[in-house]
Amino acid sequence: MRKVLILFLVVCVCFLFLTAQRRRRKKIDIKPPLTKEEIGGERLWRRFTEEENYEKYPFWPGHEGIQQGQSPHGDLHTVYIHPILFDALPIKDKVVPDGGMIVKCNMNAEKEIVAFTVMAKVEGYNPEANDWFWAKMSKDGEVEAEGKIKGCIECHSILKENDYVILYQLDKNPK
Ligand code: HEC
Repeated sequence: MRKVLILFLVVCVCFLFLTAQRRRRKKIDIKPPLTKEEIGGERLWRRFTEEENYEKYPFWPGHEGIQQGQSPHGDLHTVYIHPILFDALPIKDKVVPDGGMIVKCNMNAEKEIVAFTVMAKVEGYNPEANDWFWAKMSKDGEVEAEGKIKGCIECHSILKENDYVILYQLDKNPK
């Protein structure tokens, strides 16, 4: 009888330990959105790496983990979305709120990150194209392009009515 009790206690302790671990891993200390005065490629890099670890951000619902990419973004990718964006889903008017961010890790066939392409919503930054700040960075955070990048905006305009977002219909219920 005593053995059973001890076993039961051990199981309980393990369970508590594991759930506490999981909770800690998920916890992100969310910072206030960057303003149009603050925004810049390097500043944005620091935000989603050092200040808020992007690997703790959620994925697009239904687009979790490593996925097959399309041209020009490379073979494979993972796409993380900032909790501000995730919590706003579904977005009826299909406009991502200020502080919403999408971090796309572009990978080679070996699943190594080769570059980051990022979209960040910054109130008042670029009203002609829905206030997105666009950036491309190397795997180590070297900024290769940033700002109102014409190429990014033009191609993503195919889904202008979905706030330039291609992978996910913003008004869809995430379940
Ligand atoms: C020629 C078209 C094209 C250009 C140019 C382009 N993209 Fe994309 N982008 C796509 C497609 C298609 C997807 C869907 C994901 C995929 O298949 O890789 C996408 C997805 C994304 C995503 C994930 C969110 C979403 O919209 O679904 C981000 C972030 C992104 N692109 C950023 C950028 C940035 C930053 C640039 C410029 C440096 C850029 N893109 C240039 C076509 C393009």
